[in-house]
Amino acid sequence: MKGKKIVLGITGSIAAYKAAYLVRAFIKKGAEVQVVMTPSAKEFITPVTMSALTGKPVVSEFFAANDGTWHSHVDLGLWADAMVIAPASANTLGKMAHGVADNMLVTCYLSCKAPVFIAPAMDLDMFAHPSTQRNLELLRSYGNHIIEPAEGELASHLQGKGRMEEPDRIVEIVSSFFASEQRLQKKKIVITAGPTYEKIDPVRFIGNYSSGKMGFALAEVCAERGAEVELVAGPVSLKTVHPAIRRTNVESAQEMYDAVIRLYPDADAAIMCAAVADYRPQERAEKKIKRNTDDMTLTLVPNPDIAAALGKIKRPEQLLVGFALETDNEEQNALSKMQRKNLDFIVLNSLQEPGAGFRCDTNRITILSRDGEKQTFGLKSKKEVAGDIVDKLIEKLHL
Ligand code: PMT
Repeated sequence: MKGKKIVLGITGSIAAYKAAYLVRAFIKKGAEVQVVMTPSAKEFITPVTMSALTGKPVVSEFFAANDGTWHSHVDLGLWADAMVIAPASANTLGKMAHGVADNMLVTCYLSCKAPVFIAPAMDLDMFAHPSTQRNLELLRSYGNHIIEPAEGELASHLQGKGRMEEPDRIVEIVSSFFASEQRLQKKKIVITAGPTYEKIDPVRFIGNYSSGKMGFALAEVCAERGAEVELVAGPVSLKTVHPAIRRTNVESAQEMYDAVIRLYPDADAAIMCAAVADYRPQERAEKKIKRNTDDMTLTLVPNPDIAAALGKIKRPEQLLVGFALETDNEEQNALSKMQRKNLDFIVLNSLQEPGAGFRCDTNRITILSRDGEKQTFGLKSKKEVAGDIVDKLIEKLHL
């Protein structure tokens, strides 16, 4: 972040007290910070605190009170390498979404050409309200990066989603945006992750041990390298933090198929990391199946093969990457999956290898490509493994 110019917008939320720490964290990383406050932000934290920390007078009004000097929102908007609005109240989100330019912060935002990061903070019901969600959706569609609030105890003492993300994490997101090579900028990548659940009755399902860790690591790395990520996730308890990741939650293989088929035509590549159930029960009981003394037979029918379906509609400039989780004849099985599903390359991981496959934080992979190339990697964290896979993706996309 050395030398990066950050305009930090602070709005009227109790989380404004965290902005002091945020400024310090940015400055510690070598950034220069100019604070812009809305009038109500000054009720929560004083401009004196903020100007003492940044070494620059806070900008809040269009005109300086003493001499009537005009503060140019255009100059500030052009000066910034990034604008960060933290905390962003529901009121300011609404104004930004609809272009209501009645204060210095929103006018700055409207004239800002740099990437904008927005960290909302509000009570859980305000955050969940459809109007707030619609405003966030609009702001996202304008290309802004939304830093999702965390769950926890709120100022109201209620528990829920609405706490502004911690300052250190905000700095990490902004600095990773600058630090990473943005080789995947303007690329859209679809990633599947986690297991699928195939319902037997209202309380039981057929599933598998996938935790989603590998797929989520891939999503994070692609986003850090500038991609717009469409993450289609089966039922997992993981959170997505990077603002460039849009998440679609699904449960069954059919739901995953529907989401991926909808998203792939607009994508440059898809990485199929999910452990999809190959079969589902033919019948789904409406009510809980009661125990009795007889044997029970479950008839299973095949699920759609999502990767194979993409392989059929794939355009020449699109890339399709699959995974193979094997227990025996590993390379042979992986190669035949790559052929059958029309993949460009396949990532083989083995259940025989300690520290690889389901649930653990590490993985050991071999990448097999269409052109006969084979590359084997050592045991690494799933984030590092994701880095190796994304390097290969970048190479195959000729970026
Ligand atoms: O989630 P983790 O706990 O981190 O574990 C990661 C992982 C082990 C799940 C992951 O690394 C992995 O190997 N994922 C693929 C597992 C799998 O289902 O492999 P497969 O060999 O059965 O399927 C081959 C490929 O076809 C995969 O890309 C799979 O996503 C895809 N597939 C399979 C079946 C189906 N109906 N549709 C598909 O798209």
